[in-house]
Amino acid sequence: MASLKWSLVTLDEVSSTQDEAAKLAEAGADEGTVVMAATQTEGRGRTGRSWLSPTGGLYFSLLVRPKSVNRLQLLPLVASFSVVDGVRDSTAVKSSVRWPNDVVVHGKKASGVICESSFKGGKPKYSLVGIGVNCNSSIKSLGRLSRRVTTLAMECGHEVDVSAVLRATLTSFQGLYSKWESGEDVIASRKSDISTIGQRVELRKKDGKTVRRMVLDVTSEGELAVKQTRKSMYVRAEDVDLVTELGS
Ligand code: BTN
Repeated sequence: MASLKWSLVTLDEVSSTQDEAAKLAEAGADEGTVVMAATQTEGRGRTGRSWLSPTGGLYFSLLVRPKSVNRLQLLPLVASFSVVDGVRDSTAVKSSVRWPNDVVVHGKKASGVICESSFKGGKPKYSLVGIGVNCNSSIKSLGRLSRRVTTLAMECGHEVDVSAVLRATLTSFQGLYSKWESGEDVIASRKSDISTIGQRVELRKKDGKTVRRMVLDVTSEGELAVKQTRKSMYVRAEDVDLVTELGS
């Protein structure tokens, strides 16, 4: 399977790199197109939340053209693992994935991933993998979130090279994406990178209910296996609005 060839589009201020990438995708842009922007005025997060995008951060969207809908729900995890690798390889900061799509350092969010897909006749036309990384943004510019988030600069004690974080993340994504495309299990070997496993969590569900559960595992299908009296219960990312890790 051919690996993704990157073609980078760099923009200054946009509403959202997801919107710019969608325009290019609709116009027939190749898989591997990457749209990066210095700032976003309407950065999008998961489940309708916004993503604050002050200067100093890394904001980009990758265009991929998956062949089928099978295992599409794993793309956010694939992208999150590539951020963990990219951050480690470019800055030496150790991060982990807070299921389903946050990348955290010492429990604070440093990066988030969103995947949006367009379909035709039951098949994906394209998917846009949007990644935001708090690199050198000032913590003040992240406003009310500032107690729950961190930046790579804060973790390193100095500014980081934003393009190095991008390059290293893309390199890892290439490898993980081709494994995912060829049907390999992309979770089994990465469980030690998921901080949620082995923790008690509070899950705020999309139906408004909040439950507290012990996390046993993340399955090869990307579901969270949690303890429910004597058996396991499986939770899908699409049914969950917010995950708070409460500790082990
Ligand atoms: C989340 O944590 O809920 C996901 C955040 C994803 C943010 C990135 S920044 C680049 C891309 N463009 C967007 O509008 N969102 C994603």
